[in-house]
Amino acid sequence: MSPLDQPPLMERHDCWREAVLTAGLAVFDWDVPAKRIWRSAEMLSTWDYPDGPNEGVFGARAVIHPDDFPSFQAHMTEIEGGTRDRATLEIRMRSREGVWRWVRWRARVVSLAEDKRPLRVVGTVNDIDELWKDRDLARESQMRLQGIVDSAMDAIISVDDSQRITLFNRAAERIFGYEPLEVLGRPLDTLIPGRFHREHHRHIESFGRTGVSSRPMMAQRIVTALRKGGEEFPIDASISQNEIRGHRFYTVILRDVSVRERTRRELAQAREDLRELSVASRTAREQENSRISRELHDELGQNLTSLKMDLAWLEANAPPGSAKFLATIAGMRSVLDSTVAATRRISADLRPLMLDDLGLLAALEWLAEETSRRHGFTVDLLVDEPSGSLAEPLASQVYRIVQESLTNAGRHAAASRVRVALRTIGPEVHLHVDDDGRGLAPEDLRKKGSFGLVGIRERVYILAGSVEIRGDTGQGTAIHVRLPIPVDHGDPP
Ligand SMILES: Nc1ncnc2c1ncn2[C@@H]1O[C@H](COP(=O)(O)OP(=O)(O)OP(=O)(O)O)[C@@H](O)[C@H]1O
Ligand SMILES: [Mg+2]
Repeated sequence: MSPLDQPPLMERHDCWREAVLTAGLAVFDWDVPAKRIWRSAEMLSTWDYPDGPNEGVFGARAVIHPDDFPSFQAHMTEIEGGTRDRATLEIRMRSREGVWRWVRWRARVVSLAEDKRPLRVVGTVNDIDELWKDRDLARESQMRLQGIVDSAMDAIISVDDSQRITLFNRAAERIFGYEPLEVLGRPLDTLIPGRFHREHHRHIESFGRTGVSSRPMMAQRIVTALRKGGEEFPIDASISQNEIRGHRFYTVILRDVSVRERTRRELAQAREDLRELSVASRTAREQENSRISRELHDELGQNLTSLKMDLAWLEANAPPGSAKFLATIAGMRSVLDSTVAATRRISADLRPLMLDDLGLLAALEWLAEETSRRHGFTVDLLVDEPSGSLAEPLASQVYRIVQESLTNAGRHAAASRVRVALRTIGPEVHLHVDDDGRGLAPEDLRKKGSFGLVGIRERVYILAGSVEIRGDTGQGTAIHVRLPIPVDHGDPP
């Protein structure tokens, strides 16, 4: 006797079905021995069941996708045969609109006969098509992300909160020389030289505490990493952190910068070599100039002076009535005078001996006087005491910078006044040369075939100083130079 025939149970069925209808659920109720199926209104209106009486078990064949039907049928047969008491399937069903949609089909035996064969099976059908689409989208975006991660030029490595590697992209494989399987699940320390482990742990922990989402790793510092073969190499890295379901994980994006670092070091070395070479060549030139200048001044100058004295003697002892003779001597003296002046000028231009003999202040005073006489503008010279007796090589270089600045003011500025100020401030000497001339344009600073300003910059560079050249049109030109004064360690006692 079937329990379905018992009136109280029937009543319960009716109640149940009513509840289903009210809730609008897609539900079926299968009377297994009678091979009859009751399907809820929702079920019939949503899925494309054949019209007419819907009690046939095999109505299902009409709405289930042919590819999914065999599996569906197999499950139902097992339920019917009593070898299975429930089933959950994901299958496609045709909707009333005629499109296949994914559904989750659940069936459960709710009452059994004494011989353990099922009497009644109830089940639900849930449309999960949107869910599947979302799942597809999620899978697709996961794949896209994977593609991006794998095609990145930089190594991307994620670690969990116990610093075990959870992601290792292709670039990381290439840079570190590990296959992902060799490192996944292993501590991040595998990729860091031992002596940095403690520092690195501290860094990650403190980074975790900051809660900042991302930042360069050990800001401003190159971090060192370790290849599989044991080779250490410099990296540039940034780190970010995220929290997913209460678990924090960190992602490090890094780049092998060994080539860049090597090039940088080589470049710095080459610059340093060049600077030293410049210093040496400038010093040699100054020395050579000094030697020629002294030779001109002393040798040539002395000889010219003695010639002048001889001429004076000749003049004094000229035979009477020799007007032509005297005129020749006067001509010779004038040539001699201009030769003496030229010799002095050439000698001083080469290198003012005053610089060596009397110091920077005297040399600058002479230079100021000379240029203002030559170019016809006023030079205000202001030199404080320590700067006036600056030692070499600064003295020569400052002198040359002032010389070039004054020459430029004379040649290009049409200035009426130039101010030269030299002060020692702390460990530096500051030089300001300001004129009130026409000013210069930015393109003047790198004029082809002009080497004056370039020369100033080079001198400042080789002395490890800094220079600023400003000149707005009509506002005059200002050259500001700062040079560090080399520390004189003195002779050991
Ligand atoms: N004080 C100044 N006032 C106005 N223009 C200037 C001044 N100093 C330089 N200039 C401009 O900048 C240019 C470059 O100057 P720079 O001293 O480098 O070369 P130069 O004087 O032309 O030649 P040189 O190589 O003989 O020094 C000058 O040609 C000039 O146009
Ligand atoms: Mg010049």
